[in-house]
Amino acid sequence: MCAALTVEAPCKVNIHLRVLGRRSDGYHNLESIFLALSFGDILRFEVFEPHISRPDEIRIQPELPAGDSSIAKAVSLFRSVTGFSGAVKIEAEKRIPLGAGLGGGSSDAAATLMVLNRLSGLFLPERELQRMALQLGSDVPFFLRGGAAYVTGRGEIIEPLDPPEHLWIVLVNPGIFSGTPEAFALMDRNGDTLWTQQLPKEELVRALSGDPASWPYRNDFLALFLSRGTAAVRDGYTRILEELEALGADFAGLSGSGSTCFGVFKDKRVAEKAEKALISRWSFAQMTFPLARTGITVLKC
Ligand code: C5P
Repeated sequence: MCAALTVEAPCKVNIHLRVLGRRSDGYHNLESIFLALSFGDILRFEVFEPHISRPDEIRIQPELPAGDSSIAKAVSLFRSVTGFSGAVKIEAEKRIPLGAGLGGGSSDAAATLMVLNRLSGLFLPERELQRMALQLGSDVPFFLRGGAAYVTGRGEIIEPLDPPEHLWIVLVNPGIFSGTPEAFALMDRNGDTLWTQQLPKEELVRALSGDPASWPYRNDFLALFLSRGTAAVRDGYTRILEELEALGADFAGLSGSGSTCFGVFKDKRVAEKAEKALISRWSFAQMTFPLARTGITVLKC
């Protein structure tokens, strides 16, 4: 068994995201299609036997604001639920931008639960990890499996889908931090006038294996920001989406509650050219592709 493990915690895009309504617990019911992508944070874990007395070491680069580490929160929850008492050393290279709708913090949290479960030798069943994951955030359960999924509820009802093949995704971030609670609050104040009719689930799922140029997907947050966002937000999203389309994207959208936009390309060379053109203009641009089924990938044992 390994005492150390290096993993890649992937980012995701929501190629479809509808906010169906506010619930009595303050969360919102969603309908979304998640895709895990082959680009993520690199996390190295080491776990020590409980009899070795040493402090935990968690180093995250670039540094996060104090109290903001989803990795530290996941370690602490794992300890309190399982009684696991070994020290941990974790080094994280954060490559996924923050507040970007790409699920970086959630993916890191899921990777932490999964790796601690393995390195501690406890091997809890997946449903227990799922329970812990939901306590850490609505997007965390998805990352335990990754791949592609039709997701409802708060984010915890996950139906795996076959990921689309041979598609290239170019992520583009305008350099705006988009807070999730603030985005949902804006939706509560304005959203009811924006909601449109829902498509049947079967139609949404079927479309995933079809041509992205005719995908029926939409993101309610994008509609919200384009009509009610600040001038800088409206301008940023409009320009990126127009540029992606002009550069040959077959589909373009917004991930999560922002701020990363994405273009979907059938042709790799067109995607490469688009990435190159966009890197020079925006704070972050990255070409990647949907992961086949898995999420968190072991790089080194
Ligand atoms: O679950 P998570 O901690 O990631 O959610 C952050 C915030 O986003 C919540 O406090 C809530 O305001 C909002 N949220 C929501 N409905 C969801 C997911 C998130 O209202 N399904």
